[in-house]
Amino acid sequence: DWTPAAFVHETVERIKAQVGDKRVVMALSGGVDSTVAAELIHKAIGKNLFCIFVDNGLLRKDEFETVLESYKHMGLNVKGINAKDLFYGKLAGVSDPEQKRKIIGGLFIDVFQQEATHLTDISFLGQGTIYPDVIESVSVNGPSVTIKSHHNVGGLPEKMNMQLVEPLRFLFKDEVRRVGREIGISEIFLGRHPFPGPGLAIRILGAITPEKVHMLQEADSVYVEGLKEAGLYDKVWQAGTILLPVQSVGVMGDERTYEFTVALRAVTSVDGMTADWAHLPYEFLAKMSNDIINKVKGINRVVYDISSKPPATIEWE
Ligand code: XMP
Repeated sequence: DWTPAAFVHETVERIKAQVGDKRVVMALSGGVDSTVAAELIHKAIGKNLFCIFVDNGLLRKDEFETVLESYKHMGLNVKGINAKDLFYGKLAGVSDPEQKRKIIGGLFIDVFQQEATHLTDISFLGQGTIYPDVIESVSVNGPSVTIKSHHNVGGLPEKMNMQLVEPLRFLFKDEVRRVGREIGISEIFLGRHPFPGPGLAIRILGAITPEKVHMLQEADSVYVEGLKEAGLYDKVWQAGTILLPVQSVGVMGDERTYEFTVALRAVTSVDGMTADWAHLPYEFLAKMSNDIINKVKGINRVVYDISSKPPATIEWE
């Protein structure tokens, strides 16, 4: 019988045997998988685990700071790297979704590799790969899959000549959460909605500017906090906001405005492969629309996405 406690015990022993007194480097994303994987490796080898957390400028509002703080609180040896300008620079003027993904995946590897080469005596690369990633990466499943492997630093092992440490390789998501709970990882990590590796870049349709990222972070924060306050966050599988590349006319006081539109997305799903749009209460949507338009400068219109997957996808890019 599989139990989280037994899994943790066996896995920690296995990592100890595999790594010995050598060192492991690992990229953290703020997501459930990399966090649980890192904590298991940390349990096994302590300070010989070196973690890197990259701010690509496409995370949610305040996420880099908050998550980095939590990692330190967990006792992880983690270095935060502000690479925002590098990402914004390379993404400037790029509208094509796949191009955005390629640039982000490539830059991420560059930044990680550069940091990792500063560390001496690293023999292992830790990764939060879970069983569905293993299956997906061998099936032909559309663009998100390639990037998922990018996001999990696919390609790095060969380039860096390191062995992999992948403690979650045979687990499904719910098992990862149970293991996380077993080793005391905060619900802030465990209960999180999935968030794509390319982050807000694929939720800003068209070219990305720091101003647009800022606008979307603010709108997203109002929406996610609103979902939590209304007790709806845990009822949906994933939710987020999308900044549309259109401006439209509105009126604010006596003034005519010509500003951007934000689309709200919320879906129910089991695994993200298929999804239904969530039937959020009208009162809640009305409040979100008011709050976003009042609080976020540059947005004068809010719409709700009522498309399911298929034929739509969860993300808009
Ligand atoms: P779609 O939009 O394909 O999304 O219905 C399904 C799930 O995958 C996530 N997603 C990504 N995750 N890199 C990722 O790490 C990506 O490029 C990517 N594209 C989509 C999406 O957020 C949803 O959970």
